[in-house]
Amino acid sequence: MASNASNGGQPHRTAPSQNGKAYEFVDHEFDVVVVGAGGSGLRATLGMAEQGLRTACITKVFPTRSHTVAAQGGIAASLRNMTPDSWQWHLYDTLKGSDWLGDVDAMQYMVMEAPKAVYELEHYGVPFSRTEEGKIYQRPFGGHMQNFGEGPPVQRTCAAADRTGHAILHTLYGQSLKNNAQFFIEYFAIDLMMSEDGRCTGVVAWNLDDGTVHRFAAKTVVLATGGYGRAYFSATSAHTCTGDGGGMVARAGLPLQDMEFVQFHPTGIYGAGCLITEGARGEGGYLVNSEGERFMERYAPSAKDLASRDVVSRCMTMEIREGRGVGKEKDHIFLHLDHLDPAVLHERLPGISESAKIFAGVDVTREPIPVLPTVHYNMGGIPTNYWGEVLNPTAEEPDRIVPGLMAVGEAGCASVHGANRLGSNSLIDLVVFGRAAAIKAGQVIDRNSAVPSIDEGQSEKIMARFDAIRHASGSHATADVRERMQKAMQEDAAVFRTQETLENGCQRVSAIWGELSDLKVNDRSMIWNSDLVETLELENLMANAITTVYSAEARKESRGAHAREDFTERDDENWRLHSLARLSSDGKVDLSYRGVHTDFIAEGMPAEKMAPKKRVY
Ligand code: FUM
Repeated sequence: MASNASNGGQPHRTAPSQNGKAYEFVDHEFDVVVVGAGGSGLRATLGMAEQGLRTACITKVFPTRSHTVAAQGGIAASLRNMTPDSWQWHLYDTLKGSDWLGDVDAMQYMVMEAPKAVYELEHYGVPFSRTEEGKIYQRPFGGHMQNFGEGPPVQRTCAAADRTGHAILHTLYGQSLKNNAQFFIEYFAIDLMMSEDGRCTGVVAWNLDDGTVHRFAAKTVVLATGGYGRAYFSATSAHTCTGDGGGMVARAGLPLQDMEFVQFHPTGIYGAGCLITEGARGEGGYLVNSEGERFMERYAPSAKDLASRDVVSRCMTMEIREGRGVGKEKDHIFLHLDHLDPAVLHERLPGISESAKIFAGVDVTREPIPVLPTVHYNMGGIPTNYWGEVLNPTAEEPDRIVPGLMAVGEAGCASVHGANRLGSNSLIDLVVFGRAAAIKAGQVIDRNSAVPSIDEGQSEKIMARFDAIRHASGSHATADVRERMQKAMQEDAAVFRTQETLENGCQRVSAIWGELSDLKVNDRSMIWNSDLVETLELENLMANAITTVYSAEARKESRGAHAREDFTERDDENWRLHSLARLSSDGKVDLSYRGVHTDFIAEGMPAEKMAPKKRVY
């Protein structure tokens, strides 16, 4: 059932408000509550509902407006429809792409399950593009190669033109409705309910449409809230990508993992930041500098424009720094598609042809697109195992599970992408781990047990924080503080980093943290109050931003997307470790580390292929 009404409630309890009008709770009970309705949230919701678990999905935007809708190029799986391929090659490429920081068990699970997960999508109704023979069309993508990186690019990325995320999202939403998942649409999740002994027991959410406040008690909560790209000034991410799950987890006293690894996509449209899919280079597009040189041939002689994203983004940045950028300010690069057959552009890249016209005023059949590396993805997030169960590691128990709490998709960190994600490994991560979470929940949830009871004192505390923000009457406008945070992150936690920029970033972001207690919210209403939503989102963004910059300052090596000019080499002896950042309420970041998982979960992978080595493309 799709709903944005306050249905299914129990008798009301209340929490006080500064304006004298108490918050009345509408209570719900479910086996599973999924927060977020992007690709991973919907795949988890569908998998839970298919098994007959009473499943709610709460989402701050209409499901098909979730950011997955913007995913263009495709979803990686070794189907072998167009070139030879194997899960072993996919695993090798993913591990190499991760710069040897990914957890081998999670990566192996993903690549082995990927073909099954894609065929399931096909059977659910995703309208994939087709080959002449009617098979799913697959294109080349950066860092995906044949024969353990020794061969030419592999065609592994399954595509629905350049609107793959759109196609997946619509299909999964329809299937979830068919399986009677209950949707709470335009509900903003405020905070997790946690028991004294550390179990997650549900979530409190605000219905933006009618102002009611809801307590969802659940045996399992799945956070599928996406990334936090909007912590930066220029991002391909939607404005809704505010790291709400990470914010809730940090406030619950749980750690965030590998936050220093932030991916820049090489081809954001210059100025606007909108994505031009890597599929454009997969179809034959190439980058040039102001001398008309295809410079990627110099940096990555084998993969060229299809080297992995961190590599291409750094090369573009170096070209610009060395004075070979294009345009009046010599501050960007050109992406050429004008040599490609217009019929191919029309059939396989219609979406980006339109984006280039709208956002850069460029006809891709005649002119190059001006592009610049733009924040695109967060490799870090809420630590989980490969079943999506959230971890709260200790030195003695590095894989300790938080009962009742799961995280999937970009919000989570399994960690399959390590220090750098390969393009099209995101959509496969969403569906494989959304599905895995549902499989696990089906195994561990006792359908006959009672849903955990609600702790009244705790929900009052959650509403006290909400109420304080709602009535904040300090001196800083939310939009100003957000812009200061975005600029600090963009300037000081960028493609290239040094001790100086990172220390500066820590100081700037900590000072901005101080401003959170002096915010001004002008609108006090409870209905469609975007001022309040943005302030709650800012608190979530800040939890992500501050843990990112402190984790980055501490890591004294270069690995994947974390490129330090003062520590230029990867240091496996000291740093092949996941960082764990715990945030206290006064904005202090406490860092610890846990080891990378290096064990296989199944046979079939030559172990010698997995040893760390220099990453060249
Ligand atoms: O370039 C793209 O189409 C993006 C894909 C991805 O991030 O996986």
